[in-house]
Amino acid sequence: MALPAKLKVYILAVAVVAALLFICLALAAGEIFWPGVLLFGLLVLLSESLTVDLPRTGAISVSFTILFAAILVFGPKVAVLASLFGAIALRDIRRRVPWYRVIFNASQFVLSTGMASLVYVNAGGILLFDRGLSFADFPGIFLPLLLSALTFFILNTFSISIAIAFSEDLSPINAWLFNFKWLIPNYFALAALGVILAQVYVMAGAAGIVLLVMPLLVARETFNVYRKLRGAYEGTVRSLVKAIEAKDPYTAGHSERVADYAEKIARQLGMREDEVEVLKYAALLHDVGKMGVTKKILNKIGQLSDTEYKKVQEHPVIGANILKEIEFLKSIIPSVFHHHEHLNGRGYVDGLKGEEIPLMARILAVADSYDAMTSTRPYRVSLGKDEVVEELISCCGEQFDRTVIEAFLKVLGVEADFEEIISKAREGRSKGE
Ligand SMILES: [Fe+2]
Repeated sequence: MALPAKLKVYILAVAVVAALLFICLALAAGEIFWPGVLLFGLLVLLSESLTVDLPRTGAISVSFTILFAAILVFGPKVAVLASLFGAIALRDIRRRVPWYRVIFNASQFVLSTGMASLVYVNAGGILLFDRGLSFADFPGIFLPLLLSALTFFILNTFSISIAIAFSEDLSPINAWLFNFKWLIPNYFALAALGVILAQVYVMAGAAGIVLLVMPLLVARETFNVYRKLRGAYEGTVRSLVKAIEAKDPYTAGHSERVADYAEKIARQLGMREDEVEVLKYAALLHDVGKMGVTKKILNKIGQLSDTEYKKVQEHPVIGANILKEIEFLKSIIPSVFHHHEHLNGRGYVDGLKGEEIPLMARILAVADSYDAMTSTRPYRVSLGKDEVVEELISCCGEQFDRTVIEAFLKVLGVEADFEEIISKAREGRSKGE
């Protein structure tokens, strides 16, 4: 896989800064306590070999706890040397991770550990190597601990988020929100565990560390459960999509395409990554209620009778009722329920107007109509892209939200004169009346 140029420059920059920091810290005056480097280094290696994949890219581990303990016990020199072991994860070797990822991993570990240890020492933190921690130390040590943990968290998660952003063309903040926001409470727990690990090491030596491997494995399991849960969610959504398509073969691929358009519009509108995810699920399942409409009506060639049309109009309500039963899909119900509302209040189910209609539903309406018009259905053949764009614009303000259409046209790379198309459409309509 070819790396984007900005990602190459970024990795190189992080590596150079990390190398300079490493040289400064490792060569600074003072003895190196090698047993400490080896023990904490091996623990980091073990933790990195048992990482848990993140939802999108990258992986998370409990190495922070181990490195944080090394910082508290020994200070910068030993901690930064131990952090280098983070580059040698056994799983990465098995998976043949490319060299630039190994370099990036090692660099961001050295950077986060080195800076966090400097912050700890300079903020007045005590090294626990030969004295351990007593309760009397706590008011004074609290601030250095907090600042050091925050430094590690910020450098670690943002350096990875920027790399993800460059490789996937996202904004770094979005990449961070999606991959790391949920980790904040865990990070505090891992920092507290780091303090305990440091104290146990000072009091009981290497043997005491074994006692702590269990809670760390439990913490790892929590990450794993989260990841598996996401997998289960995606499986549920995929099977529901298949059920819709089985009922209405003409819509094969429709849900995926609507989800793709909706996602791009949302990104263009600068929506948050967690909102984009809700919208994607809503788009995949917007017509789930068609499972409650008979095949005869769905696949009918020719005009629907009034009763049949009423039945079709029930599909958002049926959809909401199906989704109500699935806890993690409750957040998509408003978008599914309102995806056939029109801006002028003449749509269904509730006849909502303008901004009363949820933004996600307004996005779905545009993505859904565009795909419906550009694909062939039993009752009509498909239209060309230009014709569909004109149709969407001419319904601006009446059926569709103009901001959404503008964002969509940017996605499609189409430029259009809105005023001209809208006035032409109005003229046509008044002549027709
Ligand atoms: Fe629909």
